[in-house]
Amino acid sequence: MSMFLRFAAAAAGVVIASSAWAQAFPTKPVTIVVPFTAGGPTDLVARGLAQGMAKPLGQSVIVENTAGAGGTIAATRVKNAAPDGYTLLVHHIGMSTAPALYRKLAYNPLTDFEMVAMVVDTPMTLIARSDFPARDVNEFVAYVKANKAKLNLAHAGIGSASHLCGLLFQSTIQTEVTTIPFKGTADALNALLAKQVDFLCDQSTNTTQHINAGTVKAYGVTSKARLPTLPNLPTLDEAGLKGFHVGVWNGVYAPKGTPKAVVDKLVAAIQQSMKEPDFRKRMADLGSTVYAPEQSTPAALAAQLKSEIDRWGPVIRAAGVYAD
Ligand code: MLT
Repeated sequence: MSMFLRFAAAAAGVVIASSAWAQAFPTKPVTIVVPFTAGGPTDLVARGLAQGMAKPLGQSVIVENTAGAGGTIAATRVKNAAPDGYTLLVHHIGMSTAPALYRKLAYNPLTDFEMVAMVVDTPMTLIARSDFPARDVNEFVAYVKANKAKLNLAHAGIGSASHLCGLLFQSTIQTEVTTIPFKGTADALNALLAKQVDFLCDQSTNTTQHINAGTVKAYGVTSKARLPTLPNLPTLDEAGLKGFHVGVWNGVYAPKGTPKAVVDKLVAAIQQSMKEPDFRKRMADLGSTVYAPEQSTPAALAAQLKSEIDRWGPVIRAAGVYAD
């Protein structure tokens, strides 16, 4: 056999072996890496998804929290993982804000990952400790402006959704306050409940129960329309902060080079999980919208990521905020 034929035969063998391997996927548990602490909004979405993916995949799906640096530690971990479908990332809007926020980012969100699926979209709520003096958004803004030197705004780390919302708020009212980073919303919210910080802007998934229980004061929601779950809470736009809209979308990513056959299996399992009535109801009760499963595709995630990078880059650069 000529050298060329031997090489061609060997290459064909490799292709057949790797496609057989992809067909057999998964033969062991799959891990979803969450870039924030347990009990927060991203964790909640990932755990709901993991539960519904186990059956179609025929394997358990484990959630691991790798918190810190606004989600960039977890994204770096998944970028560097073996591209075999066993390590996935569930991240949010922070995937699109990190390139503008971090001077030294260890990954390119658009080129270092395989896009897998879009999952949910969640609005944010502007909330404060329960004894905060202001009664509505106008009073809130006036109070923050008058007391900026002594107020603390909590967030889940530079690059987190709560950080982004806090940045937008400060730039909208042209007032800077001290910001306190945590490793996730669960921790930031605990600090707010304990009145160790003054205010926070974060997802309705975690704030709804506290708003309804009166353990925090709520001033507005970042969606374009009021939420059916919080009908008395005005949108920030209608309450006076014109154009203040942020939606926190979650996507699932795999390391670059994960075989298409494996990504296809993951997409099918995620879409199956998104159809689960329990998951849909739980997310709706917390103010989130679950994407239509058939729209939850790699192409939809790629388009969303690109358009959000284009949207937030200029806003963040204009705000002049950076992390090293
Ligand atoms: C955020 O503010 O980025 C998230 O809510 C963090 C989290 O999921 O804990």
